[in-house]
Amino acid sequence: MSPTELDHLVPMDFKNVVQVPDSHTWLDSPCINNSCSIDESVPLIDLEDPQAVEKIKMACENWGVFQVTNHGIPMELLAQIEHQARRFFDLTREEKLLTLRSPDSPNGYGIIPISRTFNTLMWMEGFTLSGSPLELARRVWPNDYSPFCTVIEDYQEQMMGLAVKITSLIFKSLGLSGEDVEWFDLKSTEAFFHLNSYPRCPDPTRALGMVPHTDSSLITLLYQSSTNRGLQVYGPNLKWVDVEPISNAIVVNVSDLLQIYSNDQFKSVVHRAIVSEAQHRISVVYFFGPKIDVNISSSPKLIKDGDFPIYRPVSWKEYREIKGVHFDKALEVVRFNSVVVENANVLTSGNEAPLDGGKVEALEA
Ligand code: OGA
Ligand code: NI
Repeated sequence: MSPTELDHLVPMDFKNVVQVPDSHTWLDSPCINNSCSIDESVPLIDLEDPQAVEKIKMACENWGVFQVTNHGIPMELLAQIEHQARRFFDLTREEKLLTLRSPDSPNGYGIIPISRTFNTLMWMEGFTLSGSPLELARRVWPNDYSPFCTVIEDYQEQMMGLAVKITSLIFKSLGLSGEDVEWFDLKSTEAFFHLNSYPRCPDPTRALGMVPHTDSSLITLLYQSSTNRGLQVYGPNLKWVDVEPISNAIVVNVSDLLQIYSNDQFKSVVHRAIVSEAQHRISVVYFFGPKIDVNISSSPKLIKDGDFPIYRPVSWKEYREIKGVHFDKALEVVRFNSVVVENANVLTSGNEAPLDGGKVEALEA
């Protein structure tokens, strides 16, 4: 049975589910069946290390992802954001639905929009914000919205500072100065903020928390609860690798806009989330980039003699729309002289819903 339109907006009530329903069963999909590598791990970089810039360059070239420590975000704030996220997702279904995302707003509770690309549903529920949480928080906690709002606003502010810092280090690692990146005004940036909840799952071998994908942003900063694993990246050896939860570390993804800007020197990382029988996992995701209508194109400084830019100029806004329609083929679509090849890689095949070219919907980032 194919899920209805409503199933793609309103998450299932995961409390008290005793078995994975057909609507959420990914059993034979390549999204779930790939073998994992246990001998490799995602690079871990101390931001205070004098060699941090070189290490970031290596990590972005080889992995498209790294974890950072000594990033300056107070541990207490990480614990608080996780606590507030759990507090929200532990509300009753009726309470959470008071903040249900409406078709004309990206903000609120629901299933991430990419799930519309698939016939099978994911074992997750999310809460999205671009801006202030106040209006939504008031609906569920009319008299007690302020702890949630204060923590989220503090977190958003701190993440913006960290994202600017890491982006500057990344530009430095590419050998670019501030003048070279005049399109990217570090004082005027954009971000989308997500809380993700992966409830306990009676049979994690059949379900998937989040399908393999790359993010549309420039970079993504992700904090995951340190209690259990869930995030996996497709590593340089073409196997899934667990991103080990390290308390106090933040995961940094190279995302599609950085791949475009670096003319493929840095590759956006394919990643997914798996689920657990024992633990309810939380992640807090900060998608970061330039103002959404600024055009990005491959940096002339990064195009070697005799080479050409690989991608045409595109803004984050337009790219999000392309991603909403073409999902894992989106980079192909903005490639000069490209023909989109169906089912060309590991990301999908099997569970996709037929693409609805008429519906242009923004992906999460
Ligand atoms: C995302 C994402 C992974 C996670 O939200 O884009 O990749 O662990 N999340 O929540
Ligand atoms: Ni992602």
